[in-house]
Order: sequence, then C-alpha cells, then structure tokens
Amino acid sequence: MESIPEKTISDIRNVSDIVNVISEVVLLRKAGKNFQGLCPFHSEKTPSFSVSPDKQVFYCFGCGAGGNVFTFLMKHEGLSFAEAVRKLGRRHGIAVEDRQLSPEERHRMQEREGIFDVNREAAAFFRKNLTDGQEGRSALAYLLNRGLTRETIDRFSLGYAPPAWDSLSGYFSGRQISSDFLEKAGLVIPREKGGGHYDRFRNRIVFPILDASSHIVGFGGRVMDDALPKYLNSPETAVFNKRRSLYGLDAARARCRETGTVYVVEGYFDVLALSQAGIRNAVATLGTALSTEHVRILKGYAREIVLVYDSDQAGMRAAVKSVETFRKENMNARILVLPEGDDPDSFLLRFGPGAFMEKARTARTMMDFLMEETVREHGLSIEGKLRIIQDLKAPLGAISDPMARSLYVRNLAAIIDVDERSVAGAVAAASSSGMADAAPGRGPVPEAAGIAGRSVMIERKIITMMLQFKDFLVEIDRRGTLDDFEDERLKSIGMHLLAHYRASGEHDIAGLIEKLNDAEREMTVNLSLGGDVWDRDGCLRLLAQFDSGRKRHTDDLLQRIDAASRGNDQALLLELLKEKQNRARKRQAIN
Ligand code: UTP
Ligand code: MN
Repeated sequence: MESIPEKTISDIRNVSDIVNVISEVVLLRKAGKNFQGLCPFHSEKTPSFSVSPDKQVFYCFGCGAGGNVFTFLMKHEGLSFAEAVRKLGRRHGIAVEDRQLSPEERHRMQEREGIFDVNREAAAFFRKNLTDGQEGRSALAYLLNRGLTRETIDRFSLGYAPPAWDSLSGYFSGRQISSDFLEKAGLVIPREKGGGHYDRFRNRIVFPILDASSHIVGFGGRVMDDALPKYLNSPETAVFNKRRSLYGLDAARARCRETGTVYVVEGYFDVLALSQAGIRNAVATLGTALSTEHVRILKGYAREIVLVYDSDQAGMRAAVKSVETFRKENMNARILVLPEGDDPDSFLLRFGPGAFMEKARTARTMMDFLMEETVREHGLSIEGKLRIIQDLKAPLGAISDPMARSLYVRNLAAIIDVDERSVAGAVAAASSSGMADAAPGRGPVPEAAGIAGRSVMIERKIITMMLQFKDFLVEIDRRGTLDDFEDERLKSIGMHLLAHYRASGEHDIAGLIEKLNDAEREMTVNLSLGGDVWDRDGCLRLLAQFDSGRKRHTDDLLQRIDAASRGNDQALLLELLKEKQNRARKRQAIN
C-alpha cells in the first residue's frame, strides 16, 4: 500500500468545511464564533458539542471526543482514516487512488460501492418496468388505485419486479455482473440444488431504501394481492442494516430540519401517503421496533419525534417499549394514536391531512401516554394501583427536571386516587437507586494542585496560547521553552505544533491533528476551543512567568550539585553537571 500523499490529504481537508459535513448529521446552532449541538457520540440533554469554523475542529466538552473533519467521519461512520479521506475526496472531485488504501480497506470500499452501483442499476430496471413495460401495467394500476399520484411514484422512485425467476439476473448477466455479487447485494438467492441463482423480488412493487447520503442501501417489495409475505425486504448486507435504516429519510430530512419534527410511522405506504398530503417529514422503520440507532440518527434532523402507531396491541406494546429508548437518548417524543384499525395511509384517505394535523397537534407526551396505558392495563383495583405504581416509579423517577417530575407525580396520584406523598416517595426511592442520568460526563480537566500542578498549569496555558495565537510560535521555538516542560503530553503537542509550523509556515490546527495520538488530539481541540483571548502583553507575561519558574529550577539544581559534591556522590554529581551544561547550552541559544 502506498500511503495517500500529504498534499492530497491537505487539499481535501482544505476544501471541506467541517461545519457543512457535521451539520448534515447533527443539528447545529450558532453560538458566538462556534456552532453547538447535541453530541452524536454520547447521550446528553444540553449541548456540549462544539464545532469551530475558524479552526475546522470539533470537540465535545461532555465526552472528550474531538478532532478534525476526518476524525469526525471516522468516528461517526466507522471509517478508517484513508476511507474518510477518500470519501470527502470523492465529494469534492479530488481523486484518491485505490492503491492508496490497504487491501482490506480497498476490498471493503469496493464492495460497498459496488453494491450501491448495482442497487442503483436495479432500481432503474425496476422503475422502467413500472413505467414503460407492458408487464408493469397492473402494478402501476395498483399504485394509482391506492391513491398515489405519478408525482409521488416518481419522487420515491417506485418500481416493479416482473414475475419471472430471472428477469433481474438476466438483465445483469448482459452487463458482466456476477450473480455472486448480486447475492452480496441481496438481489438474488442461490438455488437449493443445481447451482445458480434466482431473483429475490418477483411480481412485487419495489421501494428503494436510501440512506442519508442518498445511496440505495436496499429494497422493500410488496405483493399486489393477498399473497404472503405481504412485504419482503433486502437481507442485511455490507450496506444494509435495518436497525439503522429509515424509509424516506432522504426525502424527509430537509423538512424535518425546517419543522423540527419527524413523524415515525410503521409502513412504506404511510410515508408515501403523508408525503403526498404535504406532510413531508415522515419516515418509517422497516418492520422493526424503533432502535436506539434510529433515535440517534433522527436527533441529527429533528428536536422532536412524533410516533404514529396503530392502536392495536402490538402497536401499543411497541410504543411503550420505545419510551425507555427516548428517555435514554434524551429525545423529546410524543405519540399520536390513530383510531383502531387505521394507519396514517388509511386515515388520510378517510379524513384528509387537516384531521391528521389536528391529531398531531394534540398528540400526548410519552409520559402521559405511558401513564394512561398502564392504568388501562392494570385497572383501578387496589392490586391494580399497586402494579401501576410499581410499573411507573422508574420512568417517573428518571425524569430529570424536578418540576416536570412533581407535576407528573401529582397527576398520577390524582388519576389513581392515592396520596401524592406516597407516590412521590416510591418515585424518589426509584430515582435514587441508580436510574438517574446515564452518561458519566468527563468535565473539563481538573486543575492540579501544588507546585508541580502550578507549573503544569502554566504549561497548559502556554500550549493554549500557542494553539490560539500564532504570533509567539517563533519566539517559543527560539527560547526552547518546551524543553523544560514537565507534562509530556503538553510537550508533545507543542513540539508537533512547532514542527508543523516550521514545515508549512501555517498555524493550522486541523492539519496538526493528524500527527497526534488520540489523547493528544482530544486535548488539542479542547485547549484550542477554550474561551481565552490572547494579546501580546498577556503572552509575554506568561512566558516570563514560566522562565522565572525555570530559574527556580536552576537554583535548585545548583543546590543539588552542591549537596552531591559534599556527599561525594560521583555518579549523581556527573549527571547533575551534565544537566547544568545542557541548560547552559540552551540558554546560550536563546541569547
Ligand atoms: P403492515 O402490515 O401494517 O402493512 O406492516 P402496511 O404498511 O399498512 O402496508 P399496506 O398498507 O397493507 O400496503 C407495516 C410494515 O411492516 C413491515 C413493512 O415495512 C410494512 O410497511 N412488514 C409488514 C414486513 O416487513 N413484512 C411483512 O410481511 C409485513
Ligand atoms: Mn397500510
């Protein structure tokens, strides 16, 4: 493997804007010079995730994650450094050769990209069958009959898979794509005997499933009659994971950002019907429960989830389960329960968008919903009331806002007609037994105490100054200030910064970051985003303070030499004299 040339890396870094890249997946708000949002790497309620457009770095003051635009993609998408560079390079038309990736990286990348390509071609094939072919007529009629317009069909690129066992396979065999590769993409299935493959999707309406970067990751397929299974999805592949996929996200995300709300529904047709009714901020899970990963992804686009569930048993149970997921992820959520037997698609057909929006406006919070469901489940006998308190004390105890918690407690006490103090007592016991907030935040580094602590504090300040203010880099280099640093990590960061500056003449934190290890990188972005403002006088005072510490150090050295010579410790004496000589040499260099 040849490594990617430095020049290519810095070109790609320089044309990429970290605020753009991060804001595609995290809701960011301008806060002073920087942008702030909820950290995508840990659960938090108040934003401690900061992105600096000036320095092109990000840092989370809650969990310590930090770095430049490549670090972000590596952490967020699980990419290697080379993959992150290549991904951004592609976006800006800067080529990174395949041979500059390791064999495994190359293989992984080629497989993923190959699947995206094949899926794109398959989607075009399905689409053509729906709109052009004789065979697709009944499929198109089915869709129109269900009330979809051609515009909606186009917007979601719906298609049709013909009934033959080999129509898609045949299409690809003419294009030199092996059926083994189609199997990797989940489009064909190996025959049980006799070898060969057959098409997975046959005689079905096909729904392409896109990720947030608009790649087609998989497909869903619906029969047009009562055959089973009603829906068939792509299997898990190198690019498709149901726990992370949301149907319609690509089409919905802009509107989610505008409105701050995302509707989460259960079915493909629900997303289509809502979109057609002008409610374009809806996504669907793919026959799975709403996962933690789903909620984390949605956090990047909306501040609130409105869960739209069928009022049947299964729907209710799924909703109750997701209460805990929302709580853990600190996501605001409400639930919109439709009349028994309706889903958003059928509801819209019967009552129209106005009625849906009215339901949405009055959707209950998850906590209200949970209380009502629990009361309905257990009833108001004495036994029932005890079970209700048993079930609800943990979720109520986990509400971190004390005002909200006490209001809910009062409400529950009234509903089940139990003394408010008893309910509050049960809830308080539950909240102190470890249900409280999950993320053990790593606050700002504590300031060490004592003499050693004081000098490290000055060292920290010097590095912070160097990271935020480039005017003194040359001076610090000349004085050899870093040579006397006690803290190895700070020293290493400073050395790298000087070396980077000497080599490139640039004071470029985002570029420096690639030279550092994880711990150094996190400390660097932390210090470089600190609130200090530097001026010449402040810098000079700081350096003078450090030098007077060095002088004390020298006096101390002289005393130790004296003691060693009086105690006749030759080995120690020699060592101390060497040290003295070293320092003298350095001082000479300064003057
Ligand atoms: P539903 O059975 O509620 O169907 O499944 P639906 O969405 O209302 O579909 P229509 O209106 O009859 O066309 C809800 C979702 O569960 C998944 C699909 O994602 C579907 O949209 N599902 C359902 C499957 O994956 N497989 C199935 O066999 C059925
Ligand atoms: Mn339906």
